[in-house]
Amino acid sequence: MTRPDYAEKIPNNVGLAEDRRLQRALESWQPDFLSWWESMGPTLPTQDVYLRTAIDVRGEGWATFGHVPMIDYRWGIFLADRNADRRIAFGAHKGEPAWQKVPGEYRAELQRLIVIQGDTEPASVEQQRNLGATAPSLYDLRNLFQVNVEEGRHLWAMVYLLHAYFGREGREEAAELLHRNSGSQDSPRILGAFNEETPDWLSFFMFTYFTDRDGKYQLGTLKESAFDPLSRTCEFMLKEEAHHMMVGTTGVDRVVERTAQVMVENDTDDVAALGVIPLPVIQKYLNFHYSVSLDLFGGETSTNVANYYTAGLKGRWLEERRKDDHQLTNDSIMVDALVDGEISQTEVMALTGLNTDLRREYIADCSGGVKRWNRILDEAGLPQRLYLPHVAFNRRVGAFASIEASPSGERLTASEWEARKGQWLPTDTDKTFVRSLMRPVYERGKIAAWVAPPRNGINGQPFDYDYVHLA
Ligand SMILES: [Fe+2]
Ligand SMILES: [Fe+2]
Repeated sequence: MTRPDYAEKIPNNVGLAEDRRLQRALESWQPDFLSWWESMGPTLPTQDVYLRTAIDVRGEGWATFGHVPMIDYRWGIFLADRNADRRIAFGAHKGEPAWQKVPGEYRAELQRLIVIQGDTEPASVEQQRNLGATAPSLYDLRNLFQVNVEEGRHLWAMVYLLHAYFGREGREEAAELLHRNSGSQDSPRILGAFNEETPDWLSFFMFTYFTDRDGKYQLGTLKESAFDPLSRTCEFMLKEEAHHMMVGTTGVDRVVERTAQVMVENDTDDVAALGVIPLPVIQKYLNFHYSVSLDLFGGETSTNVANYYTAGLKGRWLEERRKDDHQLTNDSIMVDALVDGEISQTEVMALTGLNTDLRREYIADCSGGVKRWNRILDEAGLPQRLYLPHVAFNRRVGAFASIEASPSGERLTASEWEARKGQWLPTDTDKTFVRSLMRPVYERGKIAAWVAPPRNGINGQPFDYDYVHLA
């Protein structure tokens, strides 16, 4: 493993200086990336931001903090250390040494998986680009920008793989990653949830909780890949991803905490006029972000995914902790299905049900957040509770895409759905209300009235630290 080279234009620990062709190719992609960042990245002008920069993958080096102008952020290429003995943990090639090169027969599939992952990274930066204008505090503003620069770095991670291992086609795909844009009519991002706007900070916290968490699970399956450079890339990305999860989890915590506080102080549920977000509105945002994120896991059954698994391209979440044969050729799984028009389940081959397996891991993780938020309500002495809606609710992908269902899983006709969906999903009135609360607070140590301050600052700094210097 080479040491990170910071004298280089592109910081990296992949020995870029020894591969002139690759270095030149990436150096010619770099200005395109920077102009994409300038035109599609954060719109709020800043002098500098207290950012964490990865300068190494080991020890403390992966999290070096300091005030940096965002455009000077050192977007680099970092892979977790190579384990020379690593063997493939699952599928038909189980037990064979991990691949250092792309096998010809899996080239197209691997490239596709990398492009789909890569497409989500800049998409979220685009979705969040205007949020700086309404940041509830400098602390939150800094966290937003940290997430943004790291999603940019994750794009670099995928572009490195495309350039280094997929030849001309890979370079073309890398260029396309900057040409598609979130919400664009002509060339939208690949996945639906990444074309939704993130217009307010409640949406941002829900997005980082639910949608970024989908990313965590996808990276988890790619970390298992037999293609070792992909595995090592994802392993390091997951380390950065933990901060994004923290932003979402504690962000929703703080919204719920503040609402509960105002409810108790005023002894009322009707807190909209008091400048905080009512619990039913929080629930609607949760319903929306959770259901569109469930769609990101794809159909309940998929022969493509079965093939990816058997080929060793994409494993299961925590593959090596599973107590089975890691080939699954004789196993079965119950998956969600419409059976005679009813919301039900059906038994399929475990291999074809792998999307369901991953979605269930994700759902279990999401229920942890709901538990936290309900503990906050409980500690405030309130009887209200938040919940995850039924898997059939508001789905556009998979077994329930063709039907409508209530959050409790009751099947609805199209007209019942139309009449009642405003009780469960944010209406224009809800969105306008939430947006009306979004006024920027840029004074050190101050915070907007609709959200509680965080318990801890960043990197041991206090809440009133000068996390961002505006331009
Ligand atoms: Fe990411
Ligand atoms: Fe992320």
